[in-house]
Amino acid sequence: MAQQPKNVGILAMDVYFPPTCIQQEVLEAHDGASKGKYTIGLGQDCMAFCTDVEDVISMSLTVVSSLLEKFGVDPKQIGRLEVGSETVLDKSKSIKTFLMPIFEKCGNTDIEGVDSTNACYGGTAALFNCVNWVESSSWDGRYGLVVCTDSAVYAEGPARPTGGAAAIAMLIGPNAPISFESKLRASHMAHVYDFYKPDLASEYPVVDGKLSQTCYLMALDSCYKSLCDKYEKLEGKQFSISDVDYFVFHSPYNKLVQKSFARLLFNDFLRSASSIDESAKEKLAPFSSLTSDESYQSRDLEKASQQVAKPFYDSKVQPSTLVPKQVGNMYTASIYAAFASLIHDKHSTLAGQRVMLFSYGSGLSSSMFSIRLNETQLPFNLSNIASVMNISEKLKSRQEFPPEKFVETMKVMEHRYGGKDFVTSKDCSVLAPGTYYLTEVDSKYRRFYSKKATENGTLANGH
Ligand code: ACO
Repeated sequence: MAQQPKNVGILAMDVYFPPTCIQQEVLEAHDGASKGKYTIGLGQDCMAFCTDVEDVISMSLTVVSSLLEKFGVDPKQIGRLEVGSETVLDKSKSIKTFLMPIFEKCGNTDIEGVDSTNACYGGTAALFNCVNWVESSSWDGRYGLVVCTDSAVYAEGPARPTGGAAAIAMLIGPNAPISFESKLRASHMAHVYDFYKPDLASEYPVVDGKLSQTCYLMALDSCYKSLCDKYEKLEGKQFSISDVDYFVFHSPYNKLVQKSFARLLFNDFLRSASSIDESAKEKLAPFSSLTSDESYQSRDLEKASQQVAKPFYDSKVQPSTLVPKQVGNMYTASIYAAFASLIHDKHSTLAGQRVMLFSYGSGLSSSMFSIRLNETQLPFNLSNIASVMNISEKLKSRQEFPPEKFVETMKVMEHRYGGKDFVTSKDCSVLAPGTYYLTEVDSKYRRFYSKKATENGTLANGH
């Protein structure tokens, strides 16, 4: 019998976000919001968005072909492909099938997996599926590939600055630089109407913003409590934030990440964990008798716990915030873009460290899970992942839109959503070489894509 694969996890990653963006400061002024609301209040710097030539399928095609090429992976070596997305372009045909031409070209049609959907959680479901497959008796020795892809857009109003867009691809297999601690995993699932998309004619969600914030924090508490219980049963000792080197959160906007981390410290305080010193105890003592409902509403607790958490936030959370602050909420890709930011920032010092991730999708589904970072060989090591992702360069070479042009683009996209029989502007001047773009949706709703010529002049076939 073949040996049980060890250290199953993420071997390689690549990230793509549209080069078109708007500065939050500019949007804030345009929307007539008070100065600092989007930048300090929400904690966001910039927001990426798709123009009429990009969508979740083109972004996925771009990121998958880039990952395979840059890590030298033959498409024949992929045995499972899973996509997480909540951006519905077709109610039946999966995004995964749109990616198949990359593999069909090489004679590989033997690839399991389809799409997973539940708001921002679908990517985590896809990731768990691939990891579980490699660890299972059905594994055929090939790689899994996970794609998280979303275009997060909101109607005009307070939620609009919390949009964003991106696609992330992750190659899954054994002996990975990013491996799962599979026993350290806890979930919280419930039925709530905090954010949902019942109107199939619109890309915009129905969102109860305040409720979604509370649901997020309740799910976080519940996952953390279950995870602590599981750890304590397994290891026979208490778990606290001190057992984790870095935390990575699903990031709708940075302020919620700051509040979430502070909430974990409050949990540690309530559990009398060793991570809480005397001065922190003193600051949090006035809140020890709040009911949990009261604790979600208490502004004083929020302030006190954020103050206690600040030094830990700076070392354990801040390194994962770059891309989410610069690109916005990328729904399913958001948590993995945060994780990519950590690798980008700290790749040379991560070996041996533990990272705890919290994935949240409205409706709701959530999981907290632990990974370990390991020293491995090229091409699948942390430094190579950081250099392939090339995040600084991608952020630097973006084009900032003025607000009027951003609003006009949103209007075009609103009008085009669910539409047929149109050709796009085909303007790919701001796209990097090798980027896929949408050219046409024909009278039968069939979508057609092309690839911008790469630097050496080769032009891939559209399909
Ligand atoms: N300077 C500094 N801070 C300011 C300013 C200012 N001029 N004005 C407001 N603020 C602060 C507020 O005090 C608030 O901070 P706080 O939360 O610490 O109190 C913050 O900015 C936001 O202001 P609000 O008035 O609370 O914002 P509003 O209610 O208009 O919208 C919301 C925020 C609800 C997040 C909205 O953008 C939304 O609905 N977004 C989509 C839902 C979402 O992302 N939910 C998260 C989980 S679910 C998911 O991932 C989709």
